[in-house]
Amino acid sequence: MYDVFVKKFLIILFSLSILVKSAPDDGRFAHSSAVINNQFYIMGGQVNSPQIVSNDVFYLDLSQSFNLQNPSWIDITKSSGMPFANSWASSAVSGDGILMFGGYTWSLNSRTPDNSENTLCLFNTTTKQWSIPAVNGKPPTRRKDMKIISDNTNNFYIYSGIQLNDDTQWFLDMYMLDFSGLNWELTQMNNAPTFPRADYTATMLPSGIIVYIGGRTSVVQDGLLLESELNITQLTLFDTKDATWYPMVTNGVMIDNRRSHSAVLTSDGRIIIYGGVKGNNSLAAMPQLAVLDTTTTSYTWSVPIISTQTVPLLAFHTADLYGDYMIVAFGNVTNGVTPPTQMSSNIYMLDTKNYSWITSYSSNLNISMHHDHNSIGLIMGLICAGVVIIVIFGVLGALLYKRYKGQGKETVIATPGSSLFENAEEGGNVRDSYVSASARLSNITDNNRNSANTESSMISQSRPTSTTYDNNLSPPPPYVSLNISRPSSPYTTQTSYTGIGGIGPKNPPYGSRN
Ligand SMILES: *[C@@H]1O[C@H](CO)[C@@H](O)[C@H](O)[C@H]1NC(C)=O
Ligand SMILES: *[C@@H]1O[C@H](CO)[C@@H](O)[C@H](O)[C@H]1NC(C)=O
Ligand SMILES: *[C@@H]1O[C@H](CO)[C@@H](O)[C@H](O)[C@H]1NC(C)=O
Ligand SMILES: *[C@@H]1O[C@H](CO)[C@@H](O)[C@H](O)[C@H]1NC(C)=O
Ligand SMILES: *[C@@H]1O[C@H](CO)[C@@H](O)[C@H](O)[C@H]1NC(C)=O
Ligand SMILES: *[C@@H]1O[C@H](CO)[C@@H](O)[C@H](O)[C@H]1NC(C)=O
Repeated sequence: MYDVFVKKFLIILFSLSILVKSAPDDGRFAHSSAVINNQFYIMGGQVNSPQIVSNDVFYLDLSQSFNLQNPSWIDITKSSGMPFANSWASSAVSGDGILMFGGYTWSLNSRTPDNSENTLCLFNTTTKQWSIPAVNGKPPTRRKDMKIISDNTNNFYIYSGIQLNDDTQWFLDMYMLDFSGLNWELTQMNNAPTFPRADYTATMLPSGIIVYIGGRTSVVQDGLLLESELNITQLTLFDTKDATWYPMVTNGVMIDNRRSHSAVLTSDGRIIIYGGVKGNNSLAAMPQLAVLDTTTTSYTWSVPIISTQTVPLLAFHTADLYGDYMIVAFGNVTNGVTPPTQMSSNIYMLDTKNYSWITSYSSNLNISMHHDHNSIGLIMGLICAGVVIIVIFGVLGALLYKRYKGQGKETVIATPGSSLFENAEEGGNVRDSYVSASARLSNITDNNRNSANTESSMISQSRPTSTTYDNNLSPPPPYVSLNISRPSSPYTTQTSYTGIGGIGPKNPPYGSRN
């Protein structure tokens, strides 16, 4: 009799643990992420199946130690109120806010694709609430496979990308969101690249230069839209100070061209890229980790020796910097033979000082962000939580015992409401309409510079002197071709330029900043 009761109680406990097992444990790709203060946030993404878009929001408290096998995610999906489910978006940090832009959005009520023009939303990490900021001016057309990136003066930049429901429409424009003035502005660029770019990474240097690395481009030839990966030794840099583009050919070792990789900037001026795929089968780009030194006149690629190699090859993941650590999260596991078939549900941390992957994270580090932690409050909170849990289980156990004694009836445990959105055919079609390659849409949140990087403004970062693109450098062969009905250029410029590089703006000077 007592045995049966204990058994039943254990079953209930087990069911409860399933009940509280949260989405953070699921495989996920095309999500967004951000580090802000001591918190590492994961937002949205495609979960469990590529047809499910999520509105998950959860975070890790980096002021606490944890084992990387079992990070203690704090799930705030329900309370934070993300305005729509979202995948393939990009996010960037400013102050205590995370701005998320682009990608696919799904209505939370109708569970259908939300086709409204707005894809911009703001997460306030102080109040832990989402909102849709009211911004003046004409926002960029809805798009995907681009990045939003911030400088430290509340300006956000969005460059190129692909129209949401038409893969033949690539953009050549750049928009600036002035978040202090809440205004969108179409940027008048000098010497803008004549080719569009998607699935790239964008890294803001302390000097105000954005380094665009890799990704793919498209050209139109004989009614065919040909896509190819951009040559990773030919960077394009955008100087936000004078809205001018500069091409740069890098020095150092040769690495695979790639798309859907990630990039973080260390405080000493190294851009560490990770993962990504290449070719029409989305095979893993090698080597998986490479370093671009931005303190040399021509930036220099190198491939460090990694002391531990247990981390899978990934794409469609995210990477963020926290102190000396690069946090790589989720994404699809790639290989050298087939398109990715498996999603990752893990995070990994690289010590960027000596390029070693760690297995457990200790908060006992002298990271400048660590001082606001109130441990007494936390301990009190934990004690309270413990008491509450004990009381709940006590009551539950008593109830159960009573019930069992009385009736011996089955106890039914409610299944949790899902925070995921089953896709209607539409989402499937949306994905299917992508040109044959199954895996090339990316959304990687860049390393958003955070307060830990204050000393980095002292690094010297040079800007290339060349202002013309070397047309003799041929792009890699296309990996995919798509028949398009219109014979003319499919690029939607949205700007006063029509794709001729090297011509200065005829319009008023860039920006309203001083
Ligand atoms: C977040 O909320 C706090 C408290 O209301 C406010 O002071 C802060 O300005 C908000 N941050 C953003 C980015 O809106
Ligand atoms: C990621 O992996 C999942 C699971 O195998 C797959 O269904 C999905 O298509 C992959 N995503 C991409 C972009 O390749
Ligand atoms: C890397 O450096 C950390 C200290 O920053 C040290 O604890 C760790 O053992 C080093 N790892 C290797 C493989 O040298
Ligand atoms: C951390 O900082 C303290 C002083 O604030 C210093 O005594 C200690 O050696 C530092 N530890 C490490 C690992 O750098
Ligand atoms: C990329 O460009 C470099 C020169 O900038 C050239 O040497 C290399 O062959 C190119 N790679 C590919 C794959 O086209
Ligand atoms: C794409 O890959 C397949 C092999 O899976 C190959 O036969 C085909 O030629 C490739 N297409 C292009 C455009 O490279």
